[in-house]
Amino acid sequence: MTEGSSAGGVILKIDRVSKRFPGVLANDAVSVDIEQGEIHCLLGENGAGKTTLADILYGVHHPDDGALYLKGEPLRMSSPKDAIGAGIGMVHQHFEFVPPMSVLENVIIGAHSKQWLDMGQARRRLQELFDTYDVRVDPDAEVGRLSVGEQQWIEIFKTLYFGLEILILDEPTAVLTPQGVEQLFGILRRMRENGLTVILITHKLNEVMEISDRVTVLRRGKVVDTVDTADVTRQDLARMMVGRDVVFTVENEGGTPGGLLLEVDEIHVESESGRGSLEGLSLTVREGEIVGVAGVSGNGQNALFDALVGVREPSSGEIRLGGGSIVGLSARKIASLGVASVPGDRIRQGLVMDFRVKENLILGRHRSKPYASWGLLRRRPVDGFAKQSIDEFEIMTPSAAHVTRTLSGGNLQKVIMARELSQAPKLLVVHQPTRGLDVGAAEYVRRRLIQERDKGAGVLLMSEDLDEIFNLSDRIAVIYEGRIMAETRPGDTDLEEIGLWMAGISSEPDAAGASASSGNGAAGE
Ligand SMILES: Nc1ncnc2c1ncn2[C@@H]1O[C@H](COP(=O)(O)OP(=O)(O)OP(=O)(O)O)[C@@H](O)[C@H]1O
Ligand SMILES: [Mg+2]
Repeated sequence: MTEGSSAGGVILKIDRVSKRFPGVLANDAVSVDIEQGEIHCLLGENGAGKTTLADILYGVHHPDDGALYLKGEPLRMSSPKDAIGAGIGMVHQHFEFVPPMSVLENVIIGAHSKQWLDMGQARRRLQELFDTYDVRVDPDAEVGRLSVGEQQWIEIFKTLYFGLEILILDEPTAVLTPQGVEQLFGILRRMRENGLTVILITHKLNEVMEISDRVTVLRRGKVVDTVDTADVTRQDLARMMVGRDVVFTVENEGGTPGGLLLEVDEIHVESESGRGSLEGLSLTVREGEIVGVAGVSGNGQNALFDALVGVREPSSGEIRLGGGSIVGLSARKIASLGVASVPGDRIRQGLVMDFRVKENLILGRHRSKPYASWGLLRRRPVDGFAKQSIDEFEIMTPSAAHVTRTLSGGNLQKVIMARELSQAPKLLVVHQPTRGLDVGAAEYVRRRLIQERDKGAGVLLMSEDLDEIFNLSDRIAVIYEGRIMAETRPGDTDLEEIGLWMAGISSEPDAAGASASSGNGAAGE
């Protein structure tokens, strides 16, 4: 039963909304009725048009065609300010806040002109909201000190504080731990109980099944269908999205690890912000082995990635590849030794956004055979490789010559994966390789990582997606505050234990026997 969903009638009517970008119809006569008091998921392949639709609902984009109706009245917006005025809030994937300020200040920022604001009253109001939603955060705490999940709550409480009625969230769970997801969902459920309406974008089908009342599936800009969640399975949804059956847990026989490939020995790496430094981290990767590094982002993954690929030099410690030190070598030199890498922050590190898609596909090899001769790019091999990559990875772009900036989040990731996996690497360092990928693309990337391992490559897989870590890893290391907190094998642990380690809590044998061994917790799901 979906108690929350029925009562209110249609609050937001999306009526044949179309939006065209050069070369692509991102939304094609999209019609969805959002009901008051429901949690409505938007689901679809990378590039299906979800963010475009969300941006239209939040006044960022104008529809070229079609109309929106809020409680029956036409809704015209020219900016997010209008959306907020109409009662619509949004949590972007990369939400913004002002770190040196307090939670309270961030929530009420831009609210009232300062001189009229009664801070005492505002604090009481926010505390009341926190109490109602069972959230334990100090309104006076500095935002920079909160966890990512808690930071995300600020946007949500802004919505509640200002009495908005509809909240849109674009892939909010991509950055959360399992515990963080549960907390977020607790808040969303309570919002629903209070009659608020939630529109949620996520690629994770188990989340869709858990939280939503109804789901709208988009495919190539069109609505495939809107269904009651209770009437469908994960497989049904996956099939609706990608038009074929999808395997959630890819087949993995396990690796047969060979010689020692990568040795990281007690490295210290400072980070500029002070957060996420490495404080004496050690780990190893063998040939033919996938080592999963599980951890909440901000615990040193970026520093580890940068140190391994030669972007940042450790202040002490040693990194050896095939027995030889790589500390102090340039990024280009390290890549030429057979290290391929997929960074977590693809927009900043992995791509030149103003280059064409085909240029990004050969980035780093644009001066070497077969793509260049006499310092000039050779069109044929470049175009040939681009075509092959676009086909293989199903990169959605109007053409290989399109500017990379216009691709959707997931398709950007595919460009990097295609480039890096094509190089027959000895060592693959991948950070969140499937974050933001749709289920079909994620399946493909996971298979490819296993293939590379089976060909003898070592893979260092940093991921917050524990299902992925369990599915792919031969060994699991948990990173917390710049060190490896624990190391184990997938068969010797479960999601809950790893989740606790990720939160910096060592599993005490006496604390609630549940965590000891709750069956094969890691499997399927
Ligand atoms: N500003 C833009 N300029 C040109 N094309 C764009 C722009 N924004 C989006 N597109 C294109 O519109 C289509 C839909 O993109 P959108 O970002 O809405 O997809 P999405 O469903 O959110 O995908 P993902 O799951 O990868 O985030 C894509 O083909 C994308 O390349
Ligand atoms: Mg998107």
